[in-house]
Amino acid sequence: MTWLGNLERANQTSSILESIFNSVTDAIMLVDQQGVVIGANPAAERLTGYTVEELIGKIHFCEVCRGMATTTEEATCHNCFFHIPSVSSFQMAVKTKDGREFPVAASSTRLGAESDYSLVVILRDMSEQQRAEQERFRRMMTHYVIQAQEEERKRVSRDLHDGIGQALYSILVGLKVLNQLELDEAVKNHLHDVHQMTARALEEVKNMAVELRPSALDDLGLVPAIRSYSKRFEQTFGIVTQFEVSGHKRRVASVVETALYRICQEAMTNAAKYADTDKIQVRLHDSGDKIEMFIADYGRGFNTEQVQARGTGLGLYGMKERASLLGGTVDIQSVPGKGTTVHVTIPLNDKGEPLNVDPGSYRG
Ligand SMILES: Nc1ncnc2c1ncn2[C@@H]1O[C@H](COP(=O)(O)OP(=O)(O)O)[C@@H](O)[C@H]1O
Ligand SMILES: [Mg+2]
Repeated sequence: MTWLGNLERANQTSSILESIFNSVTDAIMLVDQQGVVIGANPAAERLTGYTVEELIGKIHFCEVCRGMATTTEEATCHNCFFHIPSVSSFQMAVKTKDGREFPVAASSTRLGAESDYSLVVILRDMSEQQRAEQERFRRMMTHYVIQAQEEERKRVSRDLHDGIGQALYSILVGLKVLNQLELDEAVKNHLHDVHQMTARALEEVKNMAVELRPSALDDLGLVPAIRSYSKRFEQTFGIVTQFEVSGHKRRVASVVETALYRICQEAMTNAAKYADTDKIQVRLHDSGDKIEMFIADYGRGFNTEQVQARGTGLGLYGMKERASLLGGTVDIQSVPGKGTTVHVTIPLNDKGEPLNVDPGSYRG
C-alpha cells in the first residue's frame, strides 16, 4: 500500500474513533496527572450536567466524584483509583453540577509514559440497575421475614396448644378427681375457684394459639379458617360478620391461603379498631384464574392518600406486600362516612398456585 493509502486508512480510523467517542452512551473523561479534566465526550456532559467547555481545563475530577464504593463504604477516597495504573472495574458515586448523586460503574486506564500520563475514565450510570437490585433485595427480605414470622407463629401456636394447653388440661382433670373426694365445704369452694381459674387459663391459651395461627388454616383450608375467625371476631367485638364464598371450591396453595387469611384478619381488625361499624362483609371468589377477596365495612372510612403519605400504617403496607409477593394486588377504597373496602386479587394457575412467582421461592 502507498503512503497515500496509509494516510487515508489512518484518517478513516481516526474518524471512526472520533464518532465512537462522540456517540457512545458511556461517559468518557480524560484527566491529566493533576486530576484536571482535559477531555470529555457528550455522554460525560449528560452524566455530570456540565458542558464540555465547563469541564475541560476547569474542573478537577474530584468535583464530580464523591468517592469509590466498597463492600463496607458507600463512598470513600481510600485506595483511590487515581493512584493505580489501571482499574478494570469499580463502582463510584458521581456528583452532578446541580448536586445530585448517583452510582456509576467505572473503569480507568493510564495513557502515555510512566512520568507523563493522562487517565481515561469511563463511567456508566447504574442508578436504574441499583434501584432494581435494591427492590429485588427488599422483596426477598420481606419474603423471608414474612415466612420466618409465619413459621415462628406456627411453632409458638403448636407449643402453646400441646405444651401449656395439655398441662392445664391435666391440672383440670386432677382437680376434677380431687373434687370427687370427701372434703369439707371450705376446701371444696377453694377447689371450685381454682378449677374456674384453670379453665379460664386453658381457654385463653387455646385462643392465643388459634390467634397466632389457626390449625384449621393448614388442616381444613382458608374458608373454614375465615369462618371460625369471623365467629370469634363477632363474639369479641359484637360486629355482625357476613361471609360469602363463590366460584371454584378447591384448596389453593398454602402461601395464598395464609396471605389471604392474614389480610382478612388485618382488614377486619382495622374495621373493629377504626371504622366504628356494626357490620362487616367478607366475600371470597375463586374464578379459576384468580382468587379475589373483598372485606367491606360500613363505617366511618378514611383518607387513604393521607394515611399513605403519613407513612404510618404497617398493617396496610403489610397487606400490599403479602399480595405483591404472590404477584397480586390490594386495592383499598374508602369513602369518609360510607366505609372501607379492601379488595385483594391474586392470579392463580389451574393448580391454585400463584402466577408470576418462582415456585421455588415460596413455601407455605
Ligand atoms: N377500615 C378502616 N376504617 C377507618 N380507618 C381505617 C381503616 N383501616 C385503616 N384505617 C386507618 O388507616 C390507618 C393505618 O392502618 P394500618 O396500616 O392497619 O395501621 P395500624 O392499624 O397499625 O394503625 C389507621 O391508623 C386508621 O387511621
Ligand atoms: Mg392495622
